[in-house]
Amino acid sequence: MATYSAENFNTKHYDLARPSYPDQFYQTLIDYHLAKQGNRLELALDIGTGSGFVAFKLINFFQKVIGTDLSPTMIKSCSDNPISMENRDKISFHVSRAEKSPDFVKENSIDMITGAECCHWLDHSAWFKECHRILKPGGTLAYWFYLDPVFIGNDFANDLFTRYAYGSSFDYGVLKEGDIERYMGPYYEQPGHEFLRTALRTG
Ligand SMILES: C[S@@+](CC[C@H](N)C(=O)[O-])C[C@H]1O[C@@H](n2cnc3c(N)ncnc32)[C@H](O)[C@@H]1O
Repeated sequence: MATYSAENFNTKHYDLARPSYPDQFYQTLIDYHLAKQGNRLELALDIGTGSGFVAFKLINFFQKVIGTDLSPTMIKSCSDNPISMENRDKISFHVSRAEKSPDFVKENSIDMITGAECCHWLDHSAWFKECHRILKPGGTLAYWFYLDPVFIGNDFANDLFTRYAYGSSFDYGVLKEGDIERYMGPYYEQPGHEFLRTALRTG
């Protein structure tokens, strides 16, 4: 996942191009969390926060929100975001791997952990252990992804998409030696992308 950590990674372009998650989705998450007796809205942690848009949404619900990411470039853009500046008492961002929270995050202290479109890059076993350590008993762990499109009833389109997204144009004889790769497959970092494709069912 070196791309997101590159100093010249353009977080503004990333933010603009990123599909966001609908407001109803956050409300559903909060309703789910509060349906459990005793659950509170004190502290949320958004790991792999990227440009921070989940963390920024969570301040509408939680008293305090922490966003973490292993990329210093992403964390700087979150901290420089005007929403951060206006909510210094509520939100903070820290460079940290999800598998090992910053030292100030104590065990049994987090009401909700979120991981949006990032868990495929983690060491899953270490991360689940860390979640178990820092979540309050009965707290909520929510992680999600957006998956590939499915063209219902159109096997040809599905096959074409799969070739394009996961294959190499060389394998399909589209190009010859010396041409540049036109398909996406070889450009994706693995095994992360395969985890994404299967919603963590492999690995
Ligand atoms: C595709 S972005 C998703 C960002 C944001 N959550 C979103 O929904 O747009 C994945 C993020 O995960 C971060 N990441 C990858 N591996 C990580 C790890 N082990 N610990 C923390 N963050 C990680 C990357 O730096 C990147 O910012």
